[in-house]
Amino acid sequence: MTGPPLVGVDLDAALDRAVALAGRGPARDRNPRVGCLLLAPDGSIVAEGHHGGVGTPHAEATALAAAGPSARGTTAVVTLEPCSHHGRTPPCAEALVAAGVAQVVYAVADPTHAGGGAALLEAAGVGVREHRHTASERLVADWARAAALGRPHVTWKVASTLDGRVAAADGTSRWITSPQARAEAHRVRTQVAAVVVGTGTALADDPSLTARDHRDRLLPDQPLRVVVGHRDLPASSRLAGPDAGDATTTEGEVLHLRTHDPVQVLAALRERGVHSVLLEGGPTLAAAFWRAGLVDELLVHLAPALLGAGPGAVPDLGIGTIADAARLELVEVDRLGPDLQLRLRPIPPEELH
Ligand SMILES: NC(=O)c1ccc[n+]([C@@H]2O[C@H](COP(=O)([O-])OP(=O)(O)OC[C@H]3O[C@@H](n4cnc5c(N)ncnc54)[C@H](OP(=O)(O)O)[C@@H]3O)[C@@H](O)[C@H]2O)c1
Repeated sequence: MTGPPLVGVDLDAALDRAVALAGRGPARDRNPRVGCLLLAPDGSIVAEGHHGGVGTPHAEATALAAAGPSARGTTAVVTLEPCSHHGRTPPCAEALVAAGVAQVVYAVADPTHAGGGAALLEAAGVGVREHRHTASERLVADWARAAALGRPHVTWKVASTLDGRVAAADGTSRWITSPQARAEAHRVRTQVAAVVVGTGTALADDPSLTARDHRDRLLPDQPLRVVVGHRDLPASSRLAGPDAGDATTTEGEVLHLRTHDPVQVLAALRERGVHSVLLEGGPTLAAAFWRAGLVDELLVHLAPALLGAGPGAVPDLGIGTIADAARLELVEVDRLGPDLQLRLRPIPPEELH
């Protein structure tokens, strides 16, 4: 920190406020949600700003515009390191310098090419401090992970019996797991930007893919619902009808991607600002993602039940001998009523030997 000391400033409280401001931005966007405060030396708020999504001014620019000449000598408190690149909007680090801001405190370093704002600010004589703040980290975690991957993060979720069946011989799969496991599955849907299934699952199960509570009421955070495959869904399908396409409802938008290519699916979703995907099967689509190396994590709800027949979690993966088995690392185990929840990470073949 090279600027004057931050007297009387509660940085955690300021960042809490900045996170609340950031939350006004769109939940699904190519850009991260960011909030910014400009504080006077006594800690009072001179101006506030948040980012409203791609193509709109960044949080710092909004706050600077609101402050006008009063920005001079303030401390900017931002949830994310100010950008330093010329993109759709001018670099925030330069704007902060030009406005005469004395110090900048940010919670999360920018891991992308847009980063480097801190160095630019310091070189211009602005005091810079990184102050870790959990809520700010959480705010951009999915975006940062997707930025590192160059695509949305994919969790493949599967509910299976002990013998690895995901449906019975007649195609029925409701319900393999307990109400407790299903409640957790609904909670997990609120944590991701999109839930994806193949047309096979949409036609067999007619799922709504919404996140609901135990009384079947919609939870506040609804994911984008995505169906992948060429076939049309009947008008009576919960995932078809006038909302299919890009209408927004309280249930969340529905998108039908008529492709078999998982790379295209993820590119289309990223374009829509999706940074995290819950792939809910079925086996054919999940296998396509697996073969393409596009599964980052598995969430398995394992029921103490046997079916003996019916589709397995994945069809043939082309593995002929035990030495070639796809291996996973068990990261976490939890009990959900009578069922187990396993969180697993695929082990890349090069890490196996
Ligand atoms: N227990 C569980 O966790 C769980 C979860 C989901 C489903 N299920 C069960 O799984 C069964 C449905 O299995 P499924 O394998 O048919 O479902 P699916 O994987 O959801 O759908 C398969 C269909 O998706 C399309 N598709 C999209 N990408 C593809 C690709 N890369 N390669 C081939 N096809 C692609 C094809 O249809 P088009 O001809 O339309 O292109 C294909 O027939 C049902 O019995 C359901 O209950 C169980």
